[in-house]
Amino acid sequence: MNIGSVIMNKRKALGYTQQALADKLNVSFQTVSKWEKGTNYPNVEMLPILAEVLDTSIDFLLGYKSFAVSDYDRRYGTEDYYWGITPSSLCFEIMKLRPPVKPLRVLDIGCGEGKDAIFLARNGYDVTAFDLSEAGIEKGKKLAEKCNTYVNFFKADLTDFRVSEYYDIIFSSGVFHFIKSEIRKEITANLKKYTSPGGIHTINVFVKKPFMEAAPDKDIYRFPWKSGELFLLYHDWKLCRTEEIIFKCNSGGIPHEHCMDIMIAERMQ
Ligand SMILES: C[S@@+](CC[C@H](N)C(=O)[O-])C[C@H]1O[C@@H](n2cnc3c(N)ncnc32)[C@H](O)[C@@H]1O
Repeated sequence: MNIGSVIMNKRKALGYTQQALADKLNVSFQTVSKWEKGTNYPNVEMLPILAEVLDTSIDFLLGYKSFAVSDYDRRYGTEDYYWGITPSSLCFEIMKLRPPVKPLRVLDIGCGEGKDAIFLARNGYDVTAFDLSEAGIEKGKKLAEKCNTYVNFFKADLTDFRVSEYYDIIFSSGVFHFIKSEIRKEITANLKKYTSPGGIHTINVFVKKPFMEAAPDKDIYRFPWKSGELFLLYHDWKLCRTEEIIFKCNSGGIPHEHCMDIMIAERMQ
């Protein structure tokens, strides 16, 4: 997609007319119209302002896409569930902290084949879940149907997808290492902004440790976090759980270890 189409799609998604966007950028509506038609391009100084006004990143405006997808499509392209169908222990923590005694909206980012999203939906949450892998999403839909439940699954790239609806619980397990360090602050700021007061984020990230070897089935395009980096991004929220663990894993059939930072944080206002 060229930059003009990206601007037009984002503008429409936010409900702005060309004139409304032009006013925010201090340019004429003809300028916006020329960008969208592809007869002219925004200049370089305009890109950070455009990204902010359109609630996105410069990477997204310029059409950058993650490369991780083909690898996951391959892993998910079998009958078996690559990560199994047992929900993450974090789902039980969510249920303890925010039991579904009233309608609660959950967003599962990088849901894979949907095991956690489906578990939460079966337990009464209103769940939306996305992943970059089409194969993962299709298997998630199939499993949800088999379990007689509904999850609003869709395909999206977390590096360019920006949330524009409020959620009570944002969950992501084993995914944030696909976010390059330079866009982490912007992505978490968007997720924090669209969390209802009292809402929680339950996120874990792979952390790089100098004394540990990388996993044999490691993701090729991965950007492990530094210890504590995730917690710092939530310094203005209440940190309900911050923990660093080293655990054994057998994914891909070869035993290995991972280090992970786990965080549960609550929006106080
Ligand atoms: C380690 S798996 C975890 C899957 C799931 N959360 C779970 O615990 O079963 C990482 C997932 O991140 C997804 N992913 C990788 N890059 C992504 C991106 N840019 N946007 C959305 N999902 C992405 C992969 O397709 C994969 O399903």
